[in-house]
Amino acid sequence: MSDDAYCIEAENITKSFFSRGYENTLFSSFSIKVKPGEIIGLYGPSGCGKTTLGDILLGLQFPNKGKIFWNGNDIQKLSRNSRMALRPYFQKIYQDPSTSFPPHQTMEAALTDVVKHNTLTTTKEIIHQKIVTAINDVDLERQLLKRYPRQLSGGEIQRFALSRVLLLKPLFFVADEPTSRLDLSVQARIVRLIMHLAKERRMGVLFISHDLELLKIACKNVLSLAR
Ligand SMILES: Nc1ncnc2c1ncn2[C@@H]1O[C@H](COP(=O)(O)OP(=O)(O)OP(=O)(O)O)[C@@H](O)[C@H]1O
Ligand SMILES: [Mg+2]
Repeated sequence: MSDDAYCIEAENITKSFFSRGYENTLFSSFSIKVKPGEIIGLYGPSGCGKTTLGDILLGLQFPNKGKIFWNGNDIQKLSRNSRMALRPYFQKIYQDPSTSFPPHQTMEAALTDVVKHNTLTTTKEIIHQKIVTAINDVDLERQLLKRYPRQLSGGEIQRFALSRVLLLKPLFFVADEPTSRLDLSVQARIVRLIMHLAKERRMGVLFISHDLELLKIACKNVLSLAR
């Protein structure tokens, strides 16, 4: 992909919900372009549609109007197979770390599933090595792999969520309020990691937050979704 290409683009998107006969327009004619390695902030008060917009960019919800391009491809024009093939390159980390991983699996089992689903790698040793490298990159100790999600802190789980993103090698990911449930020192650490990884791995990031000061520090541009 050339340096000028956008990993994700949205053109004039509008999203409305109908409830009890009324149309509630969350946003209209919203456009955004993100290049590889760039972090764009998305700011706005609770309920203004930030999560909905992130989900639309990832193809998890559909806009009423407008176009989304993944790596230059209009996703509405892609065949189902082509869209499925591109899907792993467009990822998300969630606001609530505790819902990120299944409660009955150790972290090693959860990450092993991710590697198995997304590569042709089969040997246990190679899979384990990939996982150890990914968790090293987010400063997690390998003995934490034996634990279940309930045995980890919010900050540790959020770093595991980041390591899962790294294993998937996305072109773009949405970080939806990834630090809002964490205390201040852990917040700063997660934000620094996201900034470092985006730049080093050339991933585009949409960083969603209602904390404007945080976004100004972490992001190249901050877009507002206030109505
Ligand atoms: N499927 C749906 N049907 C009807 N209304 C919906 C649907 N999904 C979301 N909404 C409404 O759209 C609005 C925006 O929701 P969204 O979750 O995108 O906001 P947000 O900006 O992410 O808020 P927060 O900062 O609290 O996470 C809310 O009022 C929500 O209730
Ligand atoms: Mg939200």
